[in-house]
Amino acid sequence: MSGTAPAVDYQAILDQIWLEVAPRLGEGKVASYIPQLATVPVAQFGMAVYRLDGQMFSIGAAQTRFSAQSVTKLFALALAYTRVGDSIWQRLGKEPSGTAFNSLVQLELERGIPRNPFINAGALVITDILASCFVGSEIALLQFIRQLCGSTAPDFDLKVAESELKTAHRNFAIAHLIKDFGNLHNTVSAVVRSYCRQCSITLSCEELARAAAFLANHGSMPACVPGGTQILDASSAKRISAVMLTCGTYDAAGEFAYRVGLPAKSGVGGGIVAVIPGEAAVAVWSPGLDASHNSALGTYALARLTDLTRHSIF
Ligand code: DON
Repeated sequence: MSGTAPAVDYQAILDQIWLEVAPRLGEGKVASYIPQLATVPVAQFGMAVYRLDGQMFSIGAAQTRFSAQSVTKLFALALAYTRVGDSIWQRLGKEPSGTAFNSLVQLELERGIPRNPFINAGALVITDILASCFVGSEIALLQFIRQLCGSTAPDFDLKVAESELKTAHRNFAIAHLIKDFGNLHNTVSAVVRSYCRQCSITLSCEELARAAAFLANHGSMPACVPGGTQILDASSAKRISAVMLTCGTYDAAGEFAYRVGLPAKSGVGGGIVAVIPGEAAVAVWSPGLDASHNSALGTYALARLTDLTRHSIF
């Protein structure tokens, strides 16, 4: 992509976005169904672009750690892919759900096969796959994320994990339904506990952008990273990015693709990570969510980034 588009001054464009976003800080509503997330001050914003040549550009609170929540579903899928490859699709689909991320409705009709890995039902199946591959699967996932971002700073927030576990009635219901259809191999309690820990991982925009760079780089960590390795083959990386585009931003994936035009994965902590193939990975965080549970200012900022840089996949 960089070969066809003009060179971009990312820092100048991020500075412009920061000017536009600063007066709007506080827009949206923090997720309150996980009690600990309800305590996060809404008027915060950070954004980082990690270019594949190793340059980092950032604005605002790009080094502040936040609750990754469903953004971790991206790394859980990638880690599962490294272990079992395309066979994961025997246990879940890759179509947009068109329903809320925590809905049970399709699961009953579709006999315990979740529509995709980025809704809660699909992520619980991925957690189950990881639990069958690793002893302490959430620790394996944390280590994977740490390896990708080259830092040991990302960690579990056990307060958030416990807070979610206490109120995880829907996720327990989803897991029980999947178990009833025979699509969960470990116990419901082990899978939901591991899933809540996974969701509680905290990291910053700069760390998140680094962690996703392999997806922009055909499955390999950027060459500038010492010891940077191939995480997935290029075809698998392409496939994960495709599922991000169609399913990564809940039932608003169509609207998001229309506005932003990049594969992305969001979380109810207000983080969004996006991939500019062949060019960069981008992370944005602002805890105020819009009606579709995507970060309101985060979505705005990504739309401005792709408009101002002309780097989208369209
Ligand atoms: O399971 C939940 O509801 C949260 N831990 C994560 C939800 C989220 O970020 C959006 N899910 N796709």
